[in-house]
Amino acid sequence: MDFEKFIGAAAEQVKHGAFLVTGQEANPMTIGWCLWGRVWERPVCTVFVRKSRYSHELIEGGKFTVSVPAPGTFKKELAFCGSRSGRDTDKLKDMGMARLKLSDEGIDGIEGCAVHFECKVLFKCEMGLKNLNSKIRDRFYGPDETVPGKDPHTIYFGEIVAVHSGQ
Ligand SMILES: Cc1cc2nc3c(=O)[nH]c(=O)nc-3n(C[C@H](O)[C@H](O)[C@H](O)COP(=O)(O)O)c2cc1C
Repeated sequence: MDFEKFIGAAAEQVKHGAFLVTGQEANPMTIGWCLWGRVWERPVCTVFVRKSRYSHELIEGGKFTVSVPAPGTFKKELAFCGSRSGRDTDKLKDMGMARLKLSDEGIDGIEGCAVHFECKVLFKCEMGLKNLNSKIRDRFYGPDETVPGKDPHTIYFGEIVAVHSGQ
């Protein structure tokens, strides 16, 4: 799969946010961290999801899509989906966002985004904070990892089963 040509632009944009889409309801959550590369001879997209997120429950279903906006677009939607939980509200409806069907088996993307990485979870690991650089631990997790928003991430390695662009 020729996914590498999409990585440069996607990595540039994800600094400003992209959508992690999970569950049959296609709940969009803003993410700022995402890694792409080849692992186990497969194209892989890796995302970091704290246990406290509703998306954590949904991604446990084993599938996700990362929808990456074009530069400068979806600013208010990224802010909203990064501060409200799908547990409490239907973010797609609130923001007037439409889901985009990508395949029969996978998770839908967000219509209007520049590129969509459709993924199937191959591996996950829970962060062991004792193994983390102490400065980073203090900055991102703090002294009490039971506090929502300071809880450790689960890291999901998803095989990219398809890349869709220009839709
Ligand atoms: C720019 C930005 C980047 C974010 N990146 C992440 C991330 O990589 N992982 C994560 O767990 N939460 C991240 N968040 C926080 C979630 O988007 C936020 O808690 C969201 O409301 C969770 O939605 P959910 O409960 O519907 O899953 C980010 C928020 C913003 C604004």
